[in-house]
Amino acid sequence: MSNKVILLTVLASTFACLAFAEPAPLQDFCVADTSSSVIVNGVACKNPMQVQAEDFCFSGLHIMGNTSNAVRSKVTPVFATQLPGLNTLGISMVRIDYAPWGVNPPHSHPRATEILTVLEGTLQVGFVTSNPENRLITKVLQKQWRNIGDVFVFPVGLVHYQHNIGNGYATVIAALSSQNPGAITIANAAFGANPSISSDILARAFQVDKSLVDELQVKF
Ligand SMILES: *[C@@H]1O[C@H](CO)[C@@H](O)[C@H](O)[C@H]1NC(C)=O
Repeated sequence: MSNKVILLTVLASTFACLAFAEPAPLQDFCVADTSSSVIVNGVACKNPMQVQAEDFCFSGLHIMGNTSNAVRSKVTPVFATQLPGLNTLGISMVRIDYAPWGVNPPHSHPRATEILTVLEGTLQVGFVTSNPENRLITKVLQKQWRNIGDVFVFPVGLVHYQHNIGNGYATVIAALSSQNPGAITIANAAFGANPSISSDILARAFQVDKSLVDELQVKF
């Protein structure tokens, strides 16, 4: 191999690795200055001399999310808005509450792997491998002793969901490997796009009548 080919191979593999990790911090921390209008990759930093312990703390995760909605689940985020100190650190957290039989509908996080643990209830969770196999990997997760339950990981980018299969409320805590994981909810992206994706395209993609597509587009 010529030096050039070796160099290109090294560069390609370096970029392949970087594609799944956030840029490494260039300082101890970069507490989000949410009032700044500067647009950067992340949020602009507060003056480090003005940073306080509170910037690294969020005390709202004990509050149950309001599950009175169509899917009967609610995600409470802990992102840079709620916890300014996590800005640039490549990590975030959520609490998810599920009413009985509630669903966190199929969605993917373009920038994060998610690891989740059950605090309350019983959930059936799953993710689908990429094309062409589209294999569903699914498991029932339980709360265990002292409200610390089973743990499940959803690989970056893959479509996944959770379903409360109990008669009571369920709650999980999940950590995500990005400060800004992003969420693409399949139904919303397909039927709720603004402006809409043409119903001809969706009827063809989902192999259904256009009238059904129209009905779904009205809902989303
Ligand atoms: C929960 O959300 C529903 C629907 O938006 C609303 O009517 C209700 O007042 C909310 N409940 C609380 C406790 O905020």
